Amino acid sequence: MKHYDFANIPGDGVGQEIAREAVKVMDAAATKFGFKISYENFDWGCDYFLKHGEMNPSNMLETLKGSDAIFLGCIGDASKVPDHVSLGLLLGIRKGFDQYVNLRPIQLYPGVHSPISTATPESVDFIVVRENTEGEYSSMGGFFKKGTPDAFAIQNAIFTHKGCDRVMRYAFELATQRKASGNYPGQVTNCSKANALNYSMVFWDSVYAEVAADYPDIKRDHALVDAICMWFVKNPNFFDVVVASNLFGDIITDLGAMLQGGMGFAAGGNINPERDYPSMFEPIHGSAPKYAGKNVINPVASIETARMMLDHVGEHDAANHLQKAVKSVLAAGQVKTRDMGGSATTSEIGDAITAEFLASK
Ligand code: IPM
Ligand code: MN
Repeated sequence: MKHYDFANIPGDGVGQEIAREAVKVMDAAATKFGFKISYENFDWGCDYFLKHGEMNPSNMLETLKGSDAIFLGCIGDASKVPDHVSLGLLLGIRKGFDQYVNLRPIQLYPGVHSPISTATPESVDFIVVRENTEGEYSSMGGFFKKGTPDAFAIQNAIFTHKGCDRVMRYAFELATQRKASGNYPGQVTNCSKANALNYSMVFWDSVYAEVAADYPDIKRDHALVDAICMWFVKNPNFFDVVVASNLFGDIITDLGAMLQGGMGFAAGGNINPERDYPSMFEPIHGSAPKYAGKNVINPVASIETARMMLDHVGEHDAANHLQKAVKSVLAAGQVKTRDMGGSATTSEIGDAITAEFLASK
């Protein structure tokens, strides 16, 4: 029997509740598809910081290294730890494990209402490939002359040839696979801003051109990041694969989440494609501390994240069945959390999806 070792870091705010639902569906998948999962749970996060003066122990990466994959709920609670400090945990894992692809599928499932009127299940089905280890998130810079009238700050963005090349190649490979499925046109949109960022994004564009030349069967496309926000709303069905830098990918996927029906539906994975290190799966949404412990948050993003995690470790059948179950519960519209206009609890929707999944053939 296959056996997976998963690390589980629920994190802050609603993290416990959404991680619980993710574990629920993964356990159901193990039962239904005949494999075994062991979880190692870690209480790292802002409460851990209050006790120990750090978000996680310094041997965090060593501790996680042997896992087959990591589930991360959500990190951050500004009432306890400043956000730029707490995010060190997340960025430490993304960078430390060279998870250079942040994969964020943007799909609107039937039965889910998007606040954007152009969004329909037919029109919203694309995927953002976000660079995840460098760029604007390189953490290089400093404060100078602090506390004086001449104070200033510098934040450097680092774009390496290797860093751009590998994430773009991933995007083109993904577009190639999607095209082969017969359901997608085979196109990679380059999200850029070379008109204003005359070094970093000019460089980024030049690497895109080099990589694109190796994929003659995939359509090239180019849009400035501001325009992409407009096009996502105006014409979401145009997109197939979008490749973006770290910060741009961060921003456009919050808009993408709205196309999908809201933050409660948006899943993601931080992937080390070479599998030299474990990959980490986390919903796009934040920790929403004000809803913590109320059992009201929508766990679909978390369940979908678990689905991506199962797919990543090779449990494709389980992942596909789980996606069908999610879709069928959402389409039936009987069990809806508050963000969907209903009154079901977090655990009720998790239970409904689990029951549907276990009953499905
Ligand atoms: C995300 C989040 C993080 C990011 C924050 C918490 C650092 O917004 O995963 O999208 O900017 O990457
Ligand atoms: Mn974000």
